[in-house]
Amino acid sequence: MTTFTPRVFSGMQPTGNLHLGNYLGAMLNWVKMQDTNECVYCVVDMHAITLWQNPIALRQAIRDVTAAYLACGLDPKRSIIFNQSQVPEHAELAWVFNCVARLGWLNRMTQFKDKAGKDKEAASVGLYVYPNLMAADILAYKATHVPVGEDQKQHLELARDIAAKFNNDYEVEFFPQPEPYIVGTATRVMSLRDGTKKMSKSDPSDLSRINLTDSADDIAKKIRKAKTDMDALPSEPAGLKGRPEAENLVGIFAALNGGTVQDVLTQFGGGQFSGLKNALADLAVEKLAPIAIETKRLQADQTYIDQVLADGSARARAIAAPIVKDVREIVGFLVS
Ligand code: TRP
Repeated sequence: MTTFTPRVFSGMQPTGNLHLGNYLGAMLNWVKMQDTNECVYCVVDMHAITLWQNPIALRQAIRDVTAAYLACGLDPKRSIIFNQSQVPEHAELAWVFNCVARLGWLNRMTQFKDKAGKDKEAASVGLYVYPNLMAADILAYKATHVPVGEDQKQHLELARDIAAKFNNDYEVEFFPQPEPYIVGTATRVMSLRDGTKKMSKSDPSDLSRINLTDSADDIAKKIRKAKTDMDALPSEPAGLKGRPEAENLVGIFAALNGGTVQDVLTQFGGGQFSGLKNALADLAVEKLAPIAIETKRLQADQTYIDQVLADGSARARAIAAPIVKDVREIVGFLVS
């Protein structure tokens, strides 16, 4: 068995603002991983255009997400931070993977069904082969560890299948089997208006989410207005069963505080929601308002953001180019 050097790769789409769900479910982990791993963090702008994007808004969103990455604590000195389209090897490898992956595999992807909606004939071909591009993102770096949420696990499985089929078809041990990876905890953050739905940038109600650019006042207001039920808070985690709003607020508190759900219930169990909400509003403002301020400061410095992405793209390319050159050789193209 070939052993592969450990390397972390992950990415987010530059569409809409990042919110608390992205922060507690992903970014906090990405930041931690930098301490112990070589990390490559991508702004996946090529994935974004699988659904039409206004070009001016897209360019802005690429810079905004980069500013949020940095404000959350991704460090461009320790990690590679870049945008996908500046490294053409992603597109090149994705083409090879279009020829490795089978139609039947892609037909099973549940996210395509959700995103394409009722009229599948009208969906872009890019949306359909989106998972192949994601596999190329990961495997262009021979990444071994991929922090992703539940909703991306199926795509990661596909990347593993593509890696295995490529190795098998060409009789090589070239690509690793990338694994899902979580350091510490990832918290599934739900809508503040409906505890059964994920917090989402596409929810029409802005009260449903805390954006990473919200002001201190907005953060506090949204928490105070968050939906609750009528009962007192339980003292044990088991008491949160069937109470999605309570579970969500307690989970958010624990994650922001770096403690456990039991810690939160020991403190607030038996009390009304208002006590928890007041404390959570203070905690969320303390943790998130500085990120918003730093994001805004960075957004005002476009030259710096563009510089981070240009530098990151050059470093990313230095890794991906030799790997994709080997792929050309393996599949039988002429390599000069
Ligand atoms: N599809 C991922 C999402 O929407 C984003 C993504 C693209 C990604 N390429 C990736 C995540 C590679 C991890 C690794 O969340």
